[in-house]
Amino acid sequence: MPECGTFSNPFTCGDLLFIYFLSTLAYMIIYLIFCLGAALHVHDFAMVGVDWLVKNVTYRENCYVCFTDEQTVQFIFSSGQPASRPRCSSWTLLRSLREKIKNSTDLDNSFNRNLTLFTEDPDRAYPRQEIVWKRFEQAFLVAYGLVTYAPVFKDYLYEGLRQFYEDNIMYVEIRALLPATYELDGRLNNKDWSMRACQDVVKGFTANFPDFLGARVIFTVHRGINATEAVKTVEEAMTLHRDFPDIMAGFDFVGQEDLGRPLWYFKDALSLPEDRGVNLPYFFHAGETDSQGTDVDQNLMDALLFNTTRIGHGFALARHPVVKELSIKMDVPIEVCPISNQVLKLVSDLRDHPVAVLMAEGHPVVISSDDPALFGATALSHDFYEAFMGFGGMSFNLGTLKELVINSLRYSSLPSQTKKKAIEVLLVKWDKFVLESLL
Ligand SMILES: *[C@@H]1O[C@H](CO)[C@@H](O)[C@H](O)[C@H]1NC(C)=O
Ligand SMILES: *[C@@H]1O[C@H](CO)[C@@H](O)[C@H](O)[C@H]1NC(C)=O
Ligand SMILES: *[C@@H]1O[C@H](CO)[C@@H](O)[C@H](O)[C@H]1NC(C)=O
Ligand SMILES: *[C@@H]1O[C@H](CO)[C@@H](O)[C@H](O)[C@H]1NC(C)=O
Ligand SMILES: *[C@@H]1O[C@H](CO)[C@@H](O)[C@H](O)[C@H]1NC(C)=O
Ligand SMILES: [Zn+2]
Repeated sequence: MPECGTFSNPFTCGDLLFIYFLSTLAYMIIYLIFCLGAALHVHDFAMVGVDWLVKNVTYRENCYVCFTDEQTVQFIFSSGQPASRPRCSSWTLLRSLREKIKNSTDLDNSFNRNLTLFTEDPDRAYPRQEIVWKRFEQAFLVAYGLVTYAPVFKDYLYEGLRQFYEDNIMYVEIRALLPATYELDGRLNNKDWSMRACQDVVKGFTANFPDFLGARVIFTVHRGINATEAVKTVEEAMTLHRDFPDIMAGFDFVGQEDLGRPLWYFKDALSLPEDRGVNLPYFFHAGETDSQGTDVDQNLMDALLFNTTRIGHGFALARHPVVKELSIKMDVPIEVCPISNQVLKLVSDLRDHPVAVLMAEGHPVVISSDDPALFGATALSHDFYEAFMGFGGMSFNLGTLKELVINSLRYSSLPSQTKKKAIEVLLVKWDKFVLESLL
């Protein structure tokens, strides 16, 4: 137990004991027993605990590593010696390297650190938002060479679904970049290949775990692209939505909002579906910022004007009363990701999270996990726990939990019949849970 009554920890010892008791109880409820519904905001290559990447994927045949001049590593699978990259050492076959050094524990631990933001003293390691975001994008690049290898792409998704299922989740919506995957000989596969791979993996997974409802994909692109590229990308999204209606849910932008282009910059591209009479649902990240009054701060309003289905984060929403009124009227929920907001330095103490105000006002909310693997968190239960213990405060109760979990299905992109059935299944699980564990 941490020290109490000190400057850095102003709780009294009695407080702490009580909080410890409460938190243990909350975690038991959240983690051990309960069904958490759906995870609606997670990113494709941040789903699987990185141990699996290190212990399983980097131990596969033909895996090469190079060491960058920024103290990180890159990986690639190749049948022959790969062409070297700027600012990276020459490629070394990992199997030979491991044979040479005999004990790989330290090397593997360093790979683990490369792949997550986890650190003992985050305030010292990441003093500012730019710094933590830079590490975040670096860690993403480390995983990139592993997860875009075609066979790993499929196994990764399967393992991701397995880890989410194990965390009591029944359905997932994945924000996916759908990058070109590569084969051992360097051949590239296109987005259709990736969508078909997702379809196959989800089908295979639900065949093995019939009470899992499946997964759908929200196609995403980095918000650094220009208007011309955005037009092309939105056209691609419309085609994918037409060709894979069962698994493709819609479109979104990713990347640090403060540094990227605002939604309004992409207005021509984003108007295309409506202009052509085509349906392409949007699921925009918006308001993941604490810079009031900037262009990016307008994203919340623009997301609603483009009829977004949900708002990713909406951290800044409490500051915009008119937008907030509109999102309530349009019944557009915000996807709150507590650990992500804390790690990426929008709020340091989760008791101060602005969503507390929104929930008090009855704004629709779902809880999600954004990039659990990069944060060293579980699929979703840690975020529920943080919500419960952080901004939930003393007024959070079983009813709140139930509402949040039902919301995750209510605001999913599942077809209405499936959604109705899913909520029924969930309510049966809920009643069983209440009867068995609380009475
Ligand atoms: C790695 O994962 C694959 C599939 O996900 C599995 O078939 C294989 O046995 C695992 N290998 C190791 C070494 O864990
Ligand atoms: C990444 O791995 C390399 C090679 O083992 C190591 O030197 C470096 O410190 C690691 N980077 C981080 C951020 O841990
Ligand atoms: C390998 O190295 C680690 C850390 O340096 C150590 O804890 C472990 O005992 C070593 N394993 C063997 C088999 O020597
Ligand atoms: C947009 O980006 C693409 C690819 O980077 C580039 O080829 C093109 O010239 C850019 N267009 C404009 C108008 O800047
Ligand atoms: C958003 O939905 C409203 C009402 O259905 C419609 O009038 C409007 O044209 C839509 N806007 C866009 C950009 O799709
Ligand atoms: Zn996100």
